[in-house]
Amino acid sequence: MTAFYHQVDPHSEILRDLENRLHLENLLKSNCYPKIDEGKDIIEGLSSSNKSIPSRYFYDDKGSILFEKICELPEYYPTRTEGKILQQYALEIAQMIGSCELVELGSGSSTKTRLLFDAYQQLDYPLCYVPVDVSGSILETSAKKLLVDYPFLEVSGLVSTYDLALQKLEKTSFSARTIAFLGSTLGNFSPQQCDRFLQQVTSALNPADYFLLGVDLQKPIEVLEAAYNDAQGVTAAFNLNSLNHLNWRFDGNFEVSLFEHRAIYNRELNRIEMRLFCQRSHQVRLEKLNLTVNFTDGESILTEISRKFDLSEIQNTLMKQGINLLEVWTDSQQWFGLFLGQMQ
Ligand code: AVJ
Repeated sequence: MTAFYHQVDPHSEILRDLENRLHLENLLKSNCYPKIDEGKDIIEGLSSSNKSIPSRYFYDDKGSILFEKICELPEYYPTRTEGKILQQYALEIAQMIGSCELVELGSGSSTKTRLLFDAYQQLDYPLCYVPVDVSGSILETSAKKLLVDYPFLEVSGLVSTYDLALQKLEKTSFSARTIAFLGSTLGNFSPQQCDRFLQQVTSALNPADYFLLGVDLQKPIEVLEAAYNDAQGVTAAFNLNSLNHLNWRFDGNFEVSLFEHRAIYNRELNRIEMRLFCQRSHQVRLEKLNLTVNFTDGESILTEISRKFDLSEIQNTLMKQGINLLEVWTDSQQWFGLFLGQMQ
């Protein structure tokens, strides 16, 4: 039994109400998940001459907790800035969208989304929240807290990757669906991946449905590099944890202490590149993938790109996908942008 049940009589109305408003489904455990392909991306990424690991491997349970810590770092401005924008405009956003099913891709602890729930509660608009996250433990914990804090809310969570969730979303009984993609996770995708992702998003939307997108904007390089090389080393631990994750998932023997975290801004491509630099030549074995990888001294693994956009670039990208831009909200320094689009 989890935390919130403690002070509640197990037969009480309250408990029954909480259970009635909570639905969780794990798409990663069911048979529909293409297990055959598991690890194919790792084999590809580590066999290439420019080694890489997809950034979704950051987010095992420990990685998700480390990411929450990153969000609170003094150097890491995106979460705080996006939060400020939401705080200021949540009511306006809720009024524009109205009652809906709100699907959030990469919901994590749903901290920022609470600002929207506050607005919906204040306006007395019904809302069904569909958080989607690969970390089941974070999803469950935060869903239960939300149900206690927001008596009007229904939560229908999906433990899932974005791809799978977007395919599996059922028809909503609400008059509109909103897909929210906050925190500038879009920046993790290359332009091609970005187009593919947005195609999946739009195919899960009907005409007049909404897309709420938060993206990080271009700014001085010192600010950017500091945000990804924090003084406390939380980002370093987050980056290195992906190797632990691979060890666990694929029975590997990565020696984490042989790698060093560094994040560098690429001015040509307008993106932060997070890498793990290898400190000496050695070999790594991933048993479950039957994969042996040779590392040389000074070689690096690219673990994440975090693109920094400009406003018109996003506007064009959305328009190209048949999404009309209704509104853009930003902070006083124009460090972060929140876009509300509507399907044509
Ligand atoms: C969650 C992908 C938006 O790119 O800023 C934070 C992840 N990586 N620090 C980002 C991250 C290093 C984050 N996103």
